Amino acid sequence: MDNKNYTVNTIAVHGGARKDDVFGAINEPIYMTSNYRIPTDGSPVDWAGINSNIYCRNRNPNQMVLQDKLCALTGAEEAVVLASGVAALSGVFIPFLSSGDHVIVSEVCYSAVNLLFRKYLPQKYNIEVTLLDITDTEAVRAAMRPNTKLIHVEMPGNPTTGLADLDEIVKIAHEGGALVSCDATFAGPICIFPLKHGVDLEIHSMTKYINGHGDSLGGCVLGRHELINEIKEFAMVNIGGILSPFNAWMISRGLCTLPLRMKQHSEVAMKVAEYLEQNPATRFIWYPGLKSHPQHDRALKYMSNGQYSAMISFDLHGTDEQKMKFLDNLHLITHAVSLGDIESLIVYNDKNGDKMPHYPKIFQSGFFRFSVGLESAEDIIADIQQAIDAAGIR
Ligand SMILES: Cc1ncc(COP(=O)(O)O)c(C=O)c1O
Repeated sequence: MDNKNYTVNTIAVHGGARKDDVFGAINEPIYMTSNYRIPTDGSPVDWAGINSNIYCRNRNPNQMVLQDKLCALTGAEEAVVLASGVAALSGVFIPFLSSGDHVIVSEVCYSAVNLLFRKYLPQKYNIEVTLLDITDTEAVRAAMRPNTKLIHVEMPGNPTTGLADLDEIVKIAHEGGALVSCDATFAGPICIFPLKHGVDLEIHSMTKYINGHGDSLGGCVLGRHELINEIKEFAMVNIGGILSPFNAWMISRGLCTLPLRMKQHSEVAMKVAEYLEQNPATRFIWYPGLKSHPQHDRALKYMSNGQYSAMISFDLHGTDEQKMKFLDNLHLITHAVSLGDIESLIVYNDKNGDKMPHYPKIFQSGFFRFSVGLESAEDIIADIQQAIDAAGIR
């Protein structure tokens, strides 16, 4: 794929190196091998690194094809794919932080990030951590210290969909000599472009939109050669977080339809969000595409051409029992923790959740996190309405 002027739909299908298979197969074969024949003709071998085919943990062809495809799609210099989104996150946090360094991170963030920064990194590795409201740019500026090495942002934030002012955060970090990592899992690389705003490390759980079909775990980090190669050596070769060839192949296949899926996801989610917003049973709703979202101006600035992805946070009036009854009566939409799948998934965070005190006040009495799928908006809306009625919520 050498034409730089292809559009995103074409790049998603054709991007990534295609090997010439001896049988003429058009699709990439799955290289299920742990070992490779090592040259005996005196040619150089990168025994402990990522530059030779030696052993599947150093690199494998399916992983490399997926990395090439991600670079073609996002314009990243380099990509690394790992066994899960969490492997990608710790693959960023551990190699670039040392004892005595300081990190600024959103207090609203994915649960594993929360635990890494509240427990493991400070207690085991003596990393100083400031957890704050990352949507408050002045709080970020005030939290900078001479030893701040990283600001970690989620765009949009899980589970609130809050949006940081990425340009300002990048400016603050770089002036202070810190890196910025941005987990854009909630939007995927089609609806938001962190690298174009100067972020150093863009992270995705590929388990979600990139794969999209709810059948494989994976994570990726995108960025400059020197940073990504360090993650490859650390997280892949020496910690062992390599993505299996089979999962890399599955995710490459999912990635081919990412632009089409994000267009449909975004269109359907917008209609569902508008329906929920005007429904008297709704206590509150946050969706970046709605004018009422507290950072809608940032959605306009950072999210792509009216595509705001499909993550909605909302709550209904009524008791906890009624909300459980609502979930129990949904037929099309499933109560499950993941997101970004072709099918609609919803999860209820009840008010006793241990992260609640850090969430914006309106979230603290409980809320639903809704990942709108690819079903038609009319069917999703009908399913929600009949479940609201069955639960007796007004
Ligand atoms: C924003 C975000 N980042 C990272 C992860 C972790 O991804 P994985 O489950 O692939 O490890 C998740 C999972 O839900 C997530 O929502």
